[in-house]
Amino acid sequence: MTTLDNPRDNAVEQSSDLTPQQRFREVRAVTDTLASRLSAEDQTPQSMPEASPTKWHRAHTTWFFEEFILRSVPTYAVFDERFRYLFNSYYEAVGDRHPRPERGLVTRPGIDEIAAYRRHVDDAMVDLLRRGALGDDALALLELGCNHEQQHQELLLMDVKHLFSTVPMSPGPVYVERGADAPAESDPLRWRSVAGGVTEIGAHGDGFAYDNEGPRHRVFLEDFEIARRPVTNADWWEFMADGGYRRPDLWLSDGWTHIRNTGWSAPGYWRFDDDAGWTTFTLSGRRPVVADEPVLHVSFFEADAFARWAGARLPTEFEWERAAADVDSLRGELLDPDRCHPRSTGHLNGGGAMIGNVWEWTASAYLPYPGFAPANGAVGEYNGKFMCDQHVLRGASAVTPRGHERITYRNFFPAAARWAFSGFRLAR
Ligand SMILES: [Fe+2]
Repeated sequence: MTTLDNPRDNAVEQSSDLTPQQRFREVRAVTDTLASRLSAEDQTPQSMPEASPTKWHRAHTTWFFEEFILRSVPTYAVFDERFRYLFNSYYEAVGDRHPRPERGLVTRPGIDEIAAYRRHVDDAMVDLLRRGALGDDALALLELGCNHEQQHQELLLMDVKHLFSTVPMSPGPVYVERGADAPAESDPLRWRSVAGGVTEIGAHGDGFAYDNEGPRHRVFLEDFEIARRPVTNADWWEFMADGGYRRPDLWLSDGWTHIRNTGWSAPGYWRFDDDAGWTTFTLSGRRPVVADEPVLHVSFFEADAFARWAGARLPTEFEWERAAADVDSLRGELLDPDRCHPRSTGHLNGGGAMIGNVWEWTASAYLPYPGFAPANGAVGEYNGKFMCDQHVLRGASAVTPRGHERITYRNFFPAAARWAFSGFRLAR
């Protein structure tokens, strides 16, 4: 098993001090580390249409640099012209692409050829960076490509977790060995008052942000309260014991239809056995559900129903950002390749961490901010065209690469999705 030297040192404050070449190499190395624990067989299938094979993530992140930077360099030799079709994800401006649900059927190229593709593109990129041959536009695309790859590192782990959870053996596969945590102090739900008024929302423009995080603009908020920690598994047991999944009065109509169609009666990956009680599948295999850890792998529908049951609501993304701007101990658990799992809320200095551990569903639909304009060219398809029928999640999770997290970050998923490391905190 390969480990990173010290992932905790890779903090966001330091990433801006890196040269573009160091930054590129560092990000690319994390992907290689994450994949190094997986066999060729592990890296090939996809377990559901929304997920992608590890091999595909490794190739697609490479394709991004080749497509958007290297192809416009006259001296660059394309590695394999067929990969343009194979590893395009959703960029209409680039052309046709292999259907997403069939990515897991691609047995060739194999992982060795994908590794050679990565080296080919890395060598070409590093050569350009060494010679200072990239202009400002290309350097901006490089930074976008690094952030894109970090996003795929989280997706890779989400997808491996789902894939491994489908293996019909007990015990099942383990991505990372991990001992049990020492018991943490329980962290009762407490509230923090936040003054309303006109507040500024969105990226400042100092440092990288995706286009969907801007423009910065004013929003009016009423006074509100926000929970000092996310909802925990112990909280969730109370909801379940009170018939939370059986009471239509708690659910949005679409959510109620969804749980009736799917039969959901607990968060994703949870299972009840008479012997073991409640367990959940983790990247360290199936483990007991830990009471004081944040509830994980719940959908927007479930978060919304819980909030109604609790006599509260979900914060809007604007309330969330306003509240996060005030918190001292902002960062919780981010990606540690030797853990890949949230920590108990009591572990995090009173549970105040708003960035890390679990992504937090908000009440907000994923919509453009006033004055939003996607970037020019194909990369304008990165975010803007998905602003329909999705909800915003804020913060970051225990599988978000360190340095990728920001207060203004807007993650988004459909209301029924729950394979992301998604939880939530209450507001009122
Ligand atoms: Fe992508």
